[in-house]
Amino acid sequence: MSERKIAYSAIQPSGVFTIGNYYGAVKNWVKLQQDFDCLFCVANLHAITVPQVAAELRKRTFESYALLLATGIDPETSLVYVQSQVPAHTELCWLLNCTTYMGELSRMTQYKDKSQRQGKNIRVGLFDYPVLMAADILLYQANIVPVGEDQKQHVELCRDIAERFNNTYAPTFTLPEPYFGLSGKKVKSLQDPTKKMSKSDSNLNAFVTLLDDRDTVIRKFKRAVTDSGSEIIYDEENKPGISNLIEIYSCTNDKTYLEIEKEFEGVGYGQFKLAVGESVADDLAKLQSRYNELLANKDYLEEQMKINAEKAQSIAIKTLRKARRRLGII
Ligand code: TRP
Repeated sequence: MSERKIAYSAIQPSGVFTIGNYYGAVKNWVKLQQDFDCLFCVANLHAITVPQVAAELRKRTFESYALLLATGIDPETSLVYVQSQVPAHTELCWLLNCTTYMGELSRMTQYKDKSQRQGKNIRVGLFDYPVLMAADILLYQANIVPVGEDQKQHVELCRDIAERFNNTYAPTFTLPEPYFGLSGKKVKSLQDPTKKMSKSDSNLNAFVTLLDDRDTVIRKFKRAVTDSGSEIIYDEENKPGISNLIEIYSCTNDKTYLEIEKEFEGVGYGQFKLAVGESVADDLAKLQSRYNELLANKDYLEEQMKINAEKAQSIAIKTLRKARRRLGII
């Protein structure tokens, strides 16, 4: 690869993405391609840390891959691949397991939350999840890892693991940094703007998926919760609902809050909600037609997966060999 810094991120194939995943993460990845050498991964091995139905997982892996390409990630500029097709990940994960402490993993807040929600029969994989994630990142000597706030602790752990390995053996891994550079937009629930938008929300009006049709998108925005008062101004504290809508609108067209406030001066909430809904629907329409085209062309997807996995493996194996050597593994 070139002199540019390396950016690495991944997304789990856990169903359809919401506009929260899109505006908060994936849309920014598209822009990153201009300044970084990028690798993007569909983390299907992370997905099985909680129970999955095999056929569903297989289908979603294809869908997630297609969705990444549909958003504008270019498989010829960036590496876009499926985690399980690059065996170096699981192998480095094992090597790192043997240098990571139980105590470190026990402190991960995502593990604490998820294991608590699961109750009984928590899988070892769920506990080990951050080590596999560290392997993902370290294999490619990534400099930056664009992630949401919820993954920051995992990236910090990755850094600790890498640093200790480098100090104990010899310099092997680049220390990565979490990256929130691209404004890290946080899209909130349309029904409770104090919560993050989530596709597991029991209220279907709380989130918009990337595959919602135009009418559904607009209907959900019309029903979005607003605040008291009547002005369209950005004020997270006192107007969380309107602020969230302003945020979403800005994601569709890169306008600033100030520009948006001007644009909707004197306009009522109802009309504003409609405008946001329409703007999101327009944004998604382009993506959806590309997505449907890609999904209909499974041969193309499989071919891209294969080419990209081979390229990824050829980079990853270099780091893996080094790590093996350091540990005396023949
Ligand atoms: N754990 C991340 C998530 O659920 C996905 C992920 C897996 C990831 N491996 C990664 C993100 C490596 C960044 C880097 O969002």
